[in-house]
Amino acid sequence: MMDPRLKELISAEQIQRRCDELAVEIDRDYAGKSLVLLAVLKGSYMFLADLSKRLSSPVMIDFVQVSSYGDEKSSSGIVQIRKDHDVSIEGRHVLVVEDIVDTGLTLAHLCELLRTRRPLSLKVVSMLSKPAARRHEALVDYLGFEIPNEFVVGYGLDHAESFRNLPFIALLKD
Ligand code: PRP
Repeated sequence: MMDPRLKELISAEQIQRRCDELAVEIDRDYAGKSLVLLAVLKGSYMFLADLSKRLSSPVMIDFVQVSSYGDEKSSSGIVQIRKDHDVSIEGRHVLVVEDIVDTGLTLAHLCELLRTRRPLSLKVVSMLSKPAARRHEALVDYLGFEIPNEFVVGYGLDHAESFRNLPFIALLKD
């Protein structure tokens, strides 16, 4: 039985199909190159798994954790690096993997920091984007879906650490 507060927005099948398409696009753009997939914890774990297993380009996988939200439903405006990557990104092609770009705060700050570390290239793939919520310039090179400015959970996205394991994306009603 599905939680009655949830309303499915993007199905598991739609997500998987979009992962197929994104992987084809990324493989084509990075043909003959190796890249570092830098996933932003925790929300991106599921997208990273689905995307990475579809790529035929050689990849290294690493993680960063950048916290700006805590358990609140709206951004605190504070960005903190909680866990830095282990692999050196200098001289490497880096693709940041995100589950969602909301205000853009996290991505703007993270990309600014990563650029100081001199990657050969720096791009972003995100499963979701809420363009209506954007307050900071944050460019997304590969995007799964645009969604309305509403609170969503599932496919890695949480509310107080719950719902991350849902294979679909849903609106969470109060
Ligand atoms: C979410 C998401 C992005 C960020 C987007 O992470 O994964 O990193 O918020 O919001 P913004 O564009 O307004 O900065 P969150 O801080 O909730 O951490 P989590 O992935 O561990 O749940």
